[in-house]
Amino acid sequence: MSIQEFADLTLFITGPTFVRPEIRRAASLPEFGHRDAENLKRFVPIMDGLREIAGCGGDYHVMLCNGSGSNALETTVRSLVADDECVLNVSIGAFGDLYHKMAVQNGKNAVQLKFAPGEAIDPARLEAALMEHKPAVVTFTHNETSTGVLNDLRAVCALVRKHGALPLADGVSLLGGAPIDLTGSGAATYVTSTQKSLALPAGFGVLFANDEAVEKAKAVKNRGFTTDLLAQLASAEKHQTLTTPNTTLANQMAVQIDHIVHEEGVVKRFARHAAMRDMTHDFVRSLPGYELLAPEGFRSPTMTAVRAPKGVGVAHLKEIKEAMRAKGYLFDIGYSKLNTDLESRGERVLLRLGHMGDITPDMLAAYFEALRPELLK
Ligand SMILES: Cc1ncc(COP(=O)(O)O)c(C=O)c1O
Repeated sequence: MSIQEFADLTLFITGPTFVRPEIRRAASLPEFGHRDAENLKRFVPIMDGLREIAGCGGDYHVMLCNGSGSNALETTVRSLVADDECVLNVSIGAFGDLYHKMAVQNGKNAVQLKFAPGEAIDPARLEAALMEHKPAVVTFTHNETSTGVLNDLRAVCALVRKHGALPLADGVSLLGGAPIDLTGSGAATYVTSTQKSLALPAGFGVLFANDEAVEKAKAVKNRGFTTDLLAQLASAEKHQTLTTPNTTLANQMAVQIDHIVHEEGVVKRFARHAAMRDMTHDFVRSLPGYELLAPEGFRSPTMTAVRAPKGVGVAHLKEIKEAMRAKGYLFDIGYSKLNTDLESRGERVLLRLGHMGDITPDMLAAYFEALRPELLK
């Protein structure tokens, strides 16, 4: 095999996302020792910038966990649920289910509250579950990537707190593409990944935790090694990672976070995402038979799930994917397990349109122009 065979596709999937040429070039910056002073030159601005993007200043600790978002999510559930406590995992889709799976596989006493694909968290049903199970901890997905549904972070956290539980939020496909205003959100922890709206290759899970979460972890036994929030924090306080980081990614991240904060600016970045979300809605509305899945008011600013017309199945979406590959794009044929379930029930399948990260409105418009005839075939 030759590297000449690696196709240079522009990714319009929901992660990993398109990486700008400047960030590709930053991959050739010098490697460094992660316990050396060179490390600080990368991780001090990375951590400060992440706090600015999240809107939390010094109110949250930020940790970079090696691996990806899942490693940071697992750290929260492993370190913040004690043996005699119940964790309620609220799921509006595949990634809410993933948080539950992590709780179960870490031996936690976990119960799940599930909503149908396309639904956001219904406060009445959440409140009933809180009263029934009396959880100490509640996990939920802020931006559900399998369905493009955005939950109301503040409202969910407030309800969870009203019942005395600690809210842990998964913002993997959101942070960097919309204002989170983490301070005052009520979340005890908030997690993201590098390969989504931050427009970097995968490699770090980013974990924000407030002092309350840190205090709670002290009371939890068997936190594991890489899933020990307190060990991760001890390294993060030195602007380090617990285990050896991918220094190539750290170099790229230092350049990219600087770009987001100081060149593009977070306000402009979030406005660009909002504009691309609106463009995407207009595009979908212009396609006969296609329909936005998420209800008005709960539509993700970073990606959109679309109901395909009746009669369009997964096999047809795969043909569209190949047609788009020939045009230089990677098209998203929807979350595979969800589409298999929908198709087996005779329901309409979903495709997804990623509009996160460093994709520009011009790139998105060109993508839609290339995609339109394929969707209408
Ligand atoms: C909402 C959400 N949570 C969790 C994950 C898992 O993150 P990672 O693949 O970075 O481990 C993803 C990945 O797509 C996601 O979209």
